[in-house]
Parts: sequence; structure tokens; C-alpha cells
Amino acid sequence: MSVHIVLGLQWGDEGKGKIVDLFAKNSDYVVRYQGGNNAGHTVVLGDKKFFFRLIPSGIFHKNASVVISNGVVIDLEVLLNEIRILQNEGLDLRKKLIISPRCHLILPYHKELDLAYENARGKNKLGTTKRGIGPAYSDKVSYNGIRVYELQDWKLFEQCFRFQAKMKNKILKTFSVPPVNISRELKKIKEYRSKILPYVEDTYELLINAVNKNKNILLEGAHGIMLDTDWSPYPFATASNTVAGASNAGTGIPMNKVKKVTGVVKAFTSRVGGGPLPTEIHDDLCRDIRRRGAEYGTTTGRPRRIGWLDLEAVKFACDINNVSELVITKLDILSSLKKIKAGVGYMLHGRKISYSSCGYSELARLKPVFKTFTGWGEDISGIRKYSELPKACKDYLSYIERFLKVPIKLVSVGAERNQYIRK
Ligand code: GDP
Ligand code: IMO
Ligand code: MG
Repeated sequence: MSVHIVLGLQWGDEGKGKIVDLFAKNSDYVVRYQGGNNAGHTVVLGDKKFFFRLIPSGIFHKNASVVISNGVVIDLEVLLNEIRILQNEGLDLRKKLIISPRCHLILPYHKELDLAYENARGKNKLGTTKRGIGPAYSDKVSYNGIRVYELQDWKLFEQCFRFQAKMKNKILKTFSVPPVNISRELKKIKEYRSKILPYVEDTYELLINAVNKNKNILLEGAHGIMLDTDWSPYPFATASNTVAGASNAGTGIPMNKVKKVTGVVKAFTSRVGGGPLPTEIHDDLCRDIRRRGAEYGTTTGRPRRIGWLDLEAVKFACDINNVSELVITKLDILSSLKKIKAGVGYMLHGRKISYSSCGYSELARLKPVFKTFTGWGEDISGIRKYSELPKACKDYLSYIERFLKVPIKLVSVGAERNQYIRK
């Protein structure tokens, strides 16, 4: 096995962190290739919980180096904070972490702009993580970005930063937002710079050489397919492409080197932020599932919205990514329910409509078609063999496999590393 992608097939928070940690056991490299610190990937090891925002979730494995490749946008302060937490755990990151000079930086004015746009939208706000992600990516594609590359040459960086910050301060003024203090920010960034530069290296060469040597490379997707800039109900999206194809632009690894795409699917649906959620549950059941599943944003702490598994949307996600196998997570959270539903199609004005044909307006108005399953009513979190799962639980899983036409490889039944069942 050489190149293997793990990505989320819903609205994010499917449990990718746990699965990447699990699969990274035999990896030489674990790579984040898109997004930024709007991601929050959780790894639970015994009584310790780690939240990864930028550093790939495979870091705990002795033989794995972790790479932040060019598609990622970096907030230096957040990254340094993560590095510090891991160093306090005794990890020597100098030997493990490599950062691409092509990564764009999230700078203080990006965070201010994210907030200003959200405030200006008022009740129509999108519910971003306010981490500056959209403004940083929009600077990238409008040739206004500043990268780790510029950071390597302080004079050049200072010149770029002053120019951009002055422009951004004019925009911030139109929102009546106080300007970014340029000299104070430069002082901070200079400090961060000296701590980050030792990790910077051409990640393309590193990864392409690894591919040629048939090393095991695990590519860790962030967010979820329904948040992809192109394939979400835009503008209820994130600012990066989340589809598997983004890993080519985001790392330089050709797509035909990818041997496997694992899609992570939560046994129900969650979503943070605004936008349509066709299978959303609104009543006490939503609060109950949220409480049992501890469904609060890893990055922002916001309560996540809850819905039934939306197989119409997940089928689209399987197809667009050519998903080769599935991991179903958080199945344990459904254990107490008498009846479990799954959305198996969309109807609009009495006609079937596909996920790809819908914009946000259609997704908000359509009626999902539900299939109801009998619950299994027993705790499954201690089960480690597929054959020992209750029949009703296996029926639910078999239906998912048949509907999606993709085999389930693994079922996760708890947050801890060892709480899984291989199928
Ligand atoms: P990610 O963004 O896809 O990595 O997911 P998050 O870490 O944001 O959210 C998933 C949450 O569910 C985290 O708190 C995980 O520790 C937890 N989790 C992952 N898999 C399971 C599972 O199978 N069962 C339970 N109960 N919790 C899980
Ligand atoms: P992980 O990798 C869940 C959502 C935000 C918001 C929208 C736009 O942990 O699964 P942004 O800050 O990206 O401009 O916000 O995207 N969002 C996520 N939701 N999990 C994530 O990442 C997310 N990353 C972005 O909540 O609705
Ligand atoms: Mg998350």
C-alpha cells in the first residue's frame, strides 16, 4: 500500500482523527493537504484527549513523520501552540514535522475580516469558525496571499505584510472595525517565524520520493464533502475543496498513485454552522443524541446540529471520491434508540431529486424519504467482533453497504483507540 486517503463523507466531525490515528500505525508519512485550523480532529488515548487542528493525527506513531503540505493554510500561533502541547507530551517534533513553504498564512487581518463579514451578514451569517479561513483562501486565489515562503526572507515578508495590512485596514475601516496594529503584529510574527522555520522543507520532493520508494503515505482530509467549496450547498461551505482530488493540488502526489480512499461516515449526521441539513432532527431526540455523542464543536465548542444518516448525500460523496471502503463511526451512540431512521432519497414537488442537483434552496425545501430500522437497544461499546453485534445493528450496517455499494471495513464503537470492530 502506498498512498491512502482518509476523508469525511458528511458535514465534518465524522471521527476522522480517531481513524487516521488508527490507520497511521503502519504509515511512514501522515499528511494534512487542505483546510486550516477550522478542523478539529480528536484522538483519545486512555484518559488523554488530543485535538489536532493543523498537525496530522498520526503523530503518535513512532515511525510516522507528519507533513503539512502546500494546500493547508497556517495560523502560526495555533500551530506553535499545538507543537508546544505535543512537546510537553515528550514528542520531539524536530524529527517528525515538515511544513511546506508553499502553505499560505492566516494573518491577523484575515481573522478580523472573517468576523467583520459574519457580523455584517447579521441573521444571515454562515456560522464560520471565525478562524480567518475564507479570507486567507480568498487572498490566495486573488494573488494577495503571503506564504511561509515569504516568511523565510524577513525583509520580503515585512514588505508584503505592510502592503497587505494597509489594504486590509482600509477594508476593516468600512466595517468600523479597528485597524490591525502593523508593527505590533510584525513583532509577534518575527518571534513565531524563528520557531517555525526549522520545520520548513520542500514537501513535494519529500513526498514524491516517498511515493517512488513505495513508502506508506496516509493523506488526512479535513472537514467533509458536504462542505467542499464546489460541492456543498454554497455559500454554506468551507473555503477549500474537500474532495479526494484536492490531495493532488494540495500535495503534488498524482491521483493515479492513490491506492485506496477510505470514507469516514458517522452513523448519524451532525453539522456546525448555518445552511440546510435535509435530515435534521429538531426535537428532544436531537438533544439526546447530542448529549450522548458529546456533539459540540472541537474547534468552537458550539452545539452541533443533529440529523439522521443522509444516505443520498453520502452516496454522492462515495461516487465523487471513488471511495473504496467505509468506516462507520459512533454507532454506539445510537444504541439506546428504539427506532433509527436513515434518509434514502430526496423528494421535491413530488419528484425525486439528487444531491448534486440541489442548491441550498432545494436542500432547504425538499422532503427526505426515510427508512426506519429497529434499534438494537443494547450497549455495543465493548464489542470487538462483528459477529457479536446484535442482529438489528448488523441489519442497519448491511443496508448502508448495499445502498452505497461500498464495503464497510471497520466500525467504531467508542472514542478510544481500541474501540473498533474490523469487519
Ligand atoms: P473529526 O473532525 O472528523 O476528526 O471528528 P471530531 O474529533 O471533531 O469529532 C468526533 C468526536 O467523536 C470526537 O470527540 C471523538 O473522540 C469522538 N468519537 C470518534 N469515534 C467515536 C465513536 O465511534 N464513538 C464515540 N462515542 N465517540 C467517537
Ligand atoms: P473537521 O475537519 C465541522 C464548517 C463551519 C462552517 C463552515 C465554514 O473537524 O471535520 P470556515 O471557518 O471553514 O469558513 O466555516 O464550515 N466547518 C466545519 N464543520 N467540522 C469541520 O472540520 C469544519 N470545518 C469547517 O462550521 O459551517
Ligand atoms: Mg472535527
